[in-house]
Amino acid sequence: MTIVIKGGSVVGANGVEKVDVLVDNDVIVKVGSNLAGDVSLDATGCHVFPGFVDLHAHLREPGREDTETIETASRAGAKGGYTALIAMPNTNPAHDSVTVIEFVREQARKAGLLDVFPSGCITMGRLGEALAPLAELSAAGVRIFTDDGSGVQDPVLMGRAMQYAKTLGVTMAQHCEVSALTQGAVMNECGCSSDMGVPGWPAVAEEMMVQRDIEMSRLTGASVHFLHLSTARSVDLVRAAKSEGLNVTAEVTPHHLSLTQELLKSFDPIYKVNPPLRSMDDIQALKAGLLDGTIDAVATDHAPHARRDKELSLDQAPPGMIGLETALGVVLSAVDLDPVQIAAVMSRNPARIAQITESHGRNIGVGDIANLCVVDLDAMWQVNPAKLASKSKNTPFVGRQLRGIVRSTMYRGQITVQDGEAQK
Ligand code: DOR
Repeated sequence: MTIVIKGGSVVGANGVEKVDVLVDNDVIVKVGSNLAGDVSLDATGCHVFPGFVDLHAHLREPGREDTETIETASRAGAKGGYTALIAMPNTNPAHDSVTVIEFVREQARKAGLLDVFPSGCITMGRLGEALAPLAELSAAGVRIFTDDGSGVQDPVLMGRAMQYAKTLGVTMAQHCEVSALTQGAVMNECGCSSDMGVPGWPAVAEEMMVQRDIEMSRLTGASVHFLHLSTARSVDLVRAAKSEGLNVTAEVTPHHLSLTQELLKSFDPIYKVNPPLRSMDDIQALKAGLLDGTIDAVATDHAPHARRDKELSLDQAPPGMIGLETALGVVLSAVDLDPVQIAAVMSRNPARIAQITESHGRNIGVGDIANLCVVDLDAMWQVNPAKLASKSKNTPFVGRQLRGIVRSTMYRGQITVQDGEAQK
């Protein structure tokens, strides 16, 4: 069966072209004017992007299937325009064995809504004590390693992990947090945290680890990716490292581009995330970093939590918010990105960092696997929690006016989302 995506503006690496895209089974077979197919997917007034790639999603399976499963996260991802997710390792058990990696892949295959690429742990159980079997996990196809949820504190262990990374050709993705400086912290360390009398998470706790791992990358030549950067100085450090030609990349979340620390004055745990929401100056620096290419990618840090957990007091509630279904709208409402830049930060760059460019983040050309999404960049919409596909609803964006909506998503030639509705 052939499907033609008709009437849209196709976003390539160098520009936008008004052409139709013809898909036969899972492959793009023609790009041009006036194409016909067995089925037509209307993209009038919309842009056609390579399917989005999220470098940072917590899928919660195995272990917390009450808050999300690989299937529900896949559906949420498809609704957000994603065709690939990198699954974070802080499940129970964690991603420190080939058995767990294979389990995650199998659940994703069963769901069949997008590709899930599990990250591997850097250390066993993410405990920061002994290295995970990096070579074995890499031989099983893992390309990104992280202990996300925590940073690797011990520089000796991290240095060794980086030496392995260099040899194996994989990337170390760091959650930058010197934990001795963040004990009990619930929000950014700032005037508000002092006024509120709550422990703060200082910017320097992130920046020290960014700097340490830049030095480690210089020493070993390993590729290092910085997860969810949140401070102005972190952006400066990465910019300087890149100008020296070091092998570093970075991501920012939609919430760190759009929400500030002052929201925590409400004591509402919906705003509690790790790293915490920061100041307006930090937001301006993160936006500038995204626009000038210092920050390569937008990544959601989609972090589902049970309602009863997010209803605990600010100090007890777990950090995190969901993000797959709102990422594009939140980002476009915060930062003025043109279609080529959107394709770069939402698809091409994350696909390159994840080493999945054979099937994701491509140029929308003949022979490419048909992983695509159709987006109306000008449409305004509001988040309706009842319509979220994610099993958890912990998002502060309910009721906000967002710009840019995903109309349809195509995964390996199958329409997974049409007119904003999941198809299975
Ligand atoms: O806010 C966060 N939530 N940050 C993390 O690093 C972990 C995540 C989670 O797993 O809930």
